[in-house]
Amino acid sequence: EWTMDAFIDDAVDKMSGLEGNILCGVSGGIDSTVTALLIHKAVGDRLKCVFVDNGLLRHNEEAEVERIFKEEFGMRFTALYAAERFLEKLKGITDPEEKRKVVGGEFADVFSEYAEKNGPFRWLAQGTLYPDVVESGATGGPAAVIKSHHNVGGLPDRLGLEILEPLRELYKDEVRKIAARLGVPPGLVSRHPFPGPGLAVRIMGEVTPRKLGIAKAASKIVEEELEAAGLYDTVWQAYAAVGDDRAVGVVGDERRHGSIVTIRVVESLDAMTADWSRLPHGLLEKMSNRITNEIEEVTWVTYAISSKPPATIEPQ
Ligand code: XMP
Repeated sequence: EWTMDAFIDDAVDKMSGLEGNILCGVSGGIDSTVTALLIHKAVGDRLKCVFVDNGLLRHNEEAEVERIFKEEFGMRFTALYAAERFLEKLKGITDPEEKRKVVGGEFADVFSEYAEKNGPFRWLAQGTLYPDVVESGATGGPAAVIKSHHNVGGLPDRLGLEILEPLRELYKDEVRKIAARLGVPPGLVSRHPFPGPGLAVRIMGEVTPRKLGIAKAASKIVEEELEAAGLYDTVWQAYAAVGDDRAVGVVGDERRHGSIVTIRVVESLDAMTADWSRLPHGLLEKMSNRITNEIEEVTWVTYAISSKPPATIEPQ
């Protein structure tokens, strides 16, 4: 599309005059990936990408991100493995907003430690999109204080860096078009958005290794079955959440208490509003059967049928 090519040329052109080294936190998501690619086109190896593995990512995500940045893009890339630090800090914390703050704070600490040791950097690049700007209240929008998005604000001041946000005026669908034009692998272009605080907001109550394992395994099944049904690209997000509630199940002639997993699949254009997806019952049944068969600790599977508003896309 002409407008997207023009956007790319214009963004690269503007940034090619930047002086100094640029640090970009990448998550493997489309936003930070496109941010990094645009900057890389403009300044080459003066861009350094850093990925923080917080232990709250989707199945196998860390390895995949590292491979793409190093091997496919040939960028300067460092992965910081910090899962234990995050889980330690999250111990005993059950309040959703508190969990977001802990994950955001720990990210800022890990990231800052790296930046201070490996600098000097002049710029901090972030993959902020227009809806992030609005929802975080930067434009004074009504959603100002509903949730704290850690990708807006904080770090630049702390590190004394200037902010670089080339995608600030774009919506997700536009970022996807740009990604395809920049040669981002198709699997990554179409991968569903994933929240910065990761699985911490898809686990109700305390984040424990047990619940993390359930959320990862169940979400992988949801994604695989959607793919197999050819529906993955037709929905906005799809995952399985888990909490502390238990329900009775029977295995053979034995009754036992297991976890309840909630499948959430939504359709949306920009995440500001969303509708729950009317998936075929046969598909839901398949997901449910696989989840209870393959994940021993799960006895019940439920499907979330609330739209946004009044619900949000993430449960926390
Ligand atoms: P909600 O749950 O508010 O989510 O309807 C709207 C969209 O934003 C994502 N989300 C986040 N993304 N940091 C992020 O980078 C966050 O703290 C965060 N919280 C929610 C969510 O996945 C959905 O796409």
